[in-house]
Amino acid sequence: MTLLDSSETNPLEADSLNRVRPFLKWAGGKVRLVREIIRFVPRNYAKYIEPFVGGGALFFSLCPKNPILADSNQELMNCYEVVRDRYESLIETLQEIAGLPYNEETFYEIRKWKFPRNQKIKRAARMIYLNRTAFNGLYRVNRSGEFNTPFGRYKKLSLPTEKVISSASRALQKAALMMGDFEEVLENLARKGDFVYLDPPYPAVGKYSDFNRYTKDFFSEKDHERLSESVRKLDERGCTFVLSNADHPLIRELYADRKFKLVRVFAPRYINCKGDERGNVAEVLITNNLDSG
Ligand SMILES: C[S@@+](CC[C@H](N)C(=O)[O-])C[C@H]1O[C@@H](n2cnc3c(N)ncnc32)[C@H](O)[C@@H]1O
Repeated sequence: MTLLDSSETNPLEADSLNRVRPFLKWAGGKVRLVREIIRFVPRNYAKYIEPFVGGGALFFSLCPKNPILADSNQELMNCYEVVRDRYESLIETLQEIAGLPYNEETFYEIRKWKFPRNQKIKRAARMIYLNRTAFNGLYRVNRSGEFNTPFGRYKKLSLPTEKVISSASRALQKAALMMGDFEEVLENLARKGDFVYLDPPYPAVGKYSDFNRYTKDFFSEKDHERLSESVRKLDERGCTFVLSNADHPLIRELYADRKFKLVRVFAPRYINCKGDERGNVAEVLITNNLDSG
């Protein structure tokens, strides 16, 4: 396979409109919901803050001027840093990986690779490779924090193209990147006039849901409660926010506040253990931007 050529089949990569696209396929990613979300984004704001950035679907479609991007996933935030600061070396390393045979054996070999923290480019290349080859692109780790998603059995290796990586790098040039819990990020950085987009792991729906197993720390009911408190504080502080979540009783209860607008939207969901459970799932957008939509 040739790395970094454009792929006709991958919707994340093929883009006739030449927009910036996410360089990762992220579980729970919002590529297919971006149009709905944008309706609630204010025209003007000071900083753009996204504390659960994942693959950054909304960020890459807006390319805002003053972004702060954060996530609790350390490997993910390392990827963003490398794409922002050293994308050419990253492309070279990805080319080396693409030169290896593409099969199950290589996948498990690369999954075992461990690099010291300062080997940022190699860590980022491994993460991108695993993201494109593991089952459903799922980032799942065991209790010791080791990546344990099985091989995805895709017919061919499809890594992000040079164009995707270089345009993502351009979009990230002004971005401040943080690794950590959302509460701290919002407490320390969100100020009056800022826009905050929040896309947390969703509450588990049904026994096969493990969307929230992104890091060794699960996003629990308590975390959703903590998040609703942070959102209330954002509102009091004069920030505009949009939060996406599953249309789930817990979420409706936590955001029953009449001051907030709750809009039901539908998005195709692809990350599921059972193929037959894929399909349109009701989600909600909750916002204090009452004039929008
Ligand atoms: C649904 S995904 C975000 C998807 C993203 N909107 C996109 O379009 O790709 C949720 C993200 O929250 C992160 N996360 C989980 N717990 C967190 C926490 N306590 N603080 C910050 N980020 C967290 C996960 O690592 C994951 O990347």
